[in-house]
Amino acid sequence: MSASNAALAASPAFDAQAFRARFPTLKTKAYMNSGSYGLLADEVRTAFESYLDDRLRCGSEWGWWVERAEAVRTGMASLLRVDPNEIAVTASASAGVNAVASALDFSGPRNKVVVSNFEFPTSGQIWHAQEPRGAEVVHVPEDDTGYIPLEHFEKAIDERTKVVAIAQVCYRNGAKQDVKGIVEIARRKGALVLLDIYQAVGATDIDLKALDVDFATGGMLKYLLGTAGIGFFYCRKGLIEQLRPTVTGWFAQSNIFKMSIFENDPSPTARRFEMGTPPVPNCYAAEAGINIIREVGTPQIEPYIRNLTRHAIERLSEIGCRFAMPTDDARRGPQVTVKSTDDHALVERLAARDIVVSNRDGNLRAMFHAYNTGADVEALVEGLKANADLLRR
Ligand SMILES: Cc1ncc(COP(=O)(O)O)c(C=O)c1O
Repeated sequence: MSASNAALAASPAFDAQAFRARFPTLKTKAYMNSGSYGLLADEVRTAFESYLDDRLRCGSEWGWWVERAEAVRTGMASLLRVDPNEIAVTASASAGVNAVASALDFSGPRNKVVVSNFEFPTSGQIWHAQEPRGAEVVHVPEDDTGYIPLEHFEKAIDERTKVVAIAQVCYRNGAKQDVKGIVEIARRKGALVLLDIYQAVGATDIDLKALDVDFATGGMLKYLLGTAGIGFFYCRKGLIEQLRPTVTGWFAQSNIFKMSIFENDPSPTARRFEMGTPPVPNCYAAEAGINIIREVGTPQIEPYIRNLTRHAIERLSEIGCRFAMPTDDARRGPQVTVKSTDDHALVERLAARDIVVSNRDGNLRAMFHAYNTGADVEALVEGLKANADLLRR
């Protein structure tokens, strides 16, 4: 038995086979694309159906629907180990970033936004959209190992930096940033930190208080097993009332049902980063997805996925694959990124074998969740062996 096979067999007590039974798609597919879209669990499908049942039964039951959004808020708060009053339930990860960006003042000398090159496009775009308001956006490049060393942040962050925007895990190559190290630099220079946890949340154990970030954003479409059209935004308690978003709406008000057109009175909680009517059907699905992750527990899920990705790296190395992400445990998330000479063709050829993966930047992305096992790794190995002409050596 190889070292990684032994590690896999010795994974913490978590019954992946039983877990797999909740995801019907796994009957026909080797699915390694959870960073694009997590699989639909039976419980999430039932949650969608119960939204329709509730509508048919009641017509318009606003009280219940607001309760579903509140359940998402408390579920996310518990998962991230923060207070529910620090969580906004949004329509997307972008919505939260826009709300906080709208609340920051870039007219003074502290107008710099430091954005890592590992950000999802939406993050770069939203910060560049603040340029007419005075923001100066500075990008932090990766090195040739596919990682951004702390020295690069040290160089970019200074006394003029208002906010540092970093993704915990890069959606392109799967590198995991040293959040604590970056936060320490930002704190020294008096800058705020916004952490995008979309490619980590649900697959990684996250304690936002321990990471000491000011803001965090993400959504429920991927490793949280929910759906598109819903997200969350975290704001550290002490900061909430200092920030007044100008991108806002009635669900952001102190008293939603005051219905006054004569004032803007933001909620004293992170709800001030919300806007209009909550995405009600998506709240049903998101609540169900979050509950699955909470039931299994991210302290169980993270080491399981880490062992699986380590095993995948070892097996893929044996057939000559080269990787676009750092391979050490501390510097990668749930994604293994393989270099290809034609990533589009490779994804298509694997799809023809019922292996679902995706591609970015000329590389193949295999994105693992707790429902993946060594059998998926072997399917990928066989698929890549059969298409070795498309591997970059
Ligand atoms: C890391 C990361 N951030 C942000 C987004 C965008 O999220 P949304 O479409 O909810 O704004 C994505 C979507 O894939 C992502 O992977």
